[in-house]
Amino acid sequence: MTAAGDLDRAGIGELHAAELARFQQGRPRSLAMLGRARAHMPNGVPMAWMASDNDQPVFIDRGQGPGFTDIDGFRYVDFNASDLAMFCGHANPSIVAAVQAQAARSTQFLLPTEASVQVAEELARRYPVPQWQFTLSATQANTEAIRLARAVTGRDVILLFQGHYHGHFEEGLVDLADGRAVPVQRGLSKGVTGRVRIAQFNDPGTLRAALEPGDVALVLTEPAMTNYLHLLLPEPGWHQALRELTRQHGTVLAIDETHTHVAGPGGATGLWHLEPDIVTIGKAVAGGLPMGAYGVTAELGEHLDAARNVATGGTLFGNPLSAAAAKAALSEVLIPGAYRHTTELGGELADGIEQAIRAAGLPWTAIRFGPRSGQWYGPMPRTGAEAHALTDGQLTRLVRIWLANRGVWEALPGAGPTVPVPATRADVTRYVNAYAELLARLR
Ligand SMILES: Cc1ncc(COP(=O)(O)O)c(C=O)c1O
Repeated sequence: MTAAGDLDRAGIGELHAAELARFQQGRPRSLAMLGRARAHMPNGVPMAWMASDNDQPVFIDRGQGPGFTDIDGFRYVDFNASDLAMFCGHANPSIVAAVQAQAARSTQFLLPTEASVQVAEELARRYPVPQWQFTLSATQANTEAIRLARAVTGRDVILLFQGHYHGHFEEGLVDLADGRAVPVQRGLSKGVTGRVRIAQFNDPGTLRAALEPGDVALVLTEPAMTNYLHLLLPEPGWHQALRELTRQHGTVLAIDETHTHVAGPGGATGLWHLEPDIVTIGKAVAGGLPMGAYGVTAELGEHLDAARNVATGGTLFGNPLSAAAAKAALSEVLIPGAYRHTTELGGELADGIEQAIRAAGLPWTAIRFGPRSGQWYGPMPRTGAEAHALTDGQLTRLVRIWLANRGVWEALPGAGPTVPVPATRADVTRYVNAYAELLARLR
């Protein structure tokens, strides 16, 4: 028996195979397109995740509001929200109008427009850091946060917590395996592990020990870790310890709000009154258009003075199209009422998941974090190491394909369902009913 309970593993395997066969049989157009695509794209997709994170990629025709429709005509409510990039919803009218208007006035000048000023002003109002810079993705925002911290401290090492994900820059792809920091993917430079140290979230002891040598430039963390087979919440006192220890050791603290900003207008930083030196963000902040951003303290901002030559920037960074989309997202979509709505429905989703778990008599735990929910296959873990022990690839794959056959999209193994802004109570009911039906079946 695993932490997930006394389950019929062979039966789960058979159920998964039957659900996958049903999914594929119903989607002949997607299957044909995949065959054609393989001639000129490895795996038949433009980016490997689209194949490796799903049992069966489907080709999409269009999205509208909380969901999208594939080329075989099946509609899904998008509870993955494209890994939170589409939290504002698909083809959101405010974003569409802003993008259309800006595209007609051109999309890059390598010079600023007023929208970038308005977005920086709004982000500075929401987060306790006054100076902002823009990239095309959260990965690049984190990359520049690292460069800035190295330039300011003269140190090399980056500290991350086990189970992290902050993008596909080199240091971000090092994590613990069997107690050692190792590259989690191939193709990284051999020296990268020497530039990364891994501690445990919620564990001041491992953090203190990792900072002790005095060579850590930056601690980069999410305020709640959203990427490790669901969600690690901070224990009381954790963020205070993190802030005190980084200050004591002269280490810069960056909080990555790329996923957690769905929790409220100022993200989890606002919710929990955090005091980071740097905030990084991306994905839904521009309504799903490519944009990353990072905000820094006034002191760090001085180091970004062009004359100091910190390695930042790219030709399409800070472009007016992303800025127009972000301005629309922040002023018309990601407004207080939207956070109230998604948090309320997120609570109802968590209630439904919890009831289904109880009714099935499973030892699982429902997750609650604003609009986001999901489950742990066992008791709530504290650290990445505990979370790792609860991963259950077989159950995760079954849940996903089962839901997809019932009009709910929840891709990506590390994510949990999140209620997007345009979702309704009926969408949450659809999720909960399909989930409860599966758990009854497992029982
Ligand atoms: C917390 C966090 N930060 C950064 C990123 C990187 O985002 P992107 O892939 O859009 O650059 C991700 C992606 O999942 C993330 O979850």
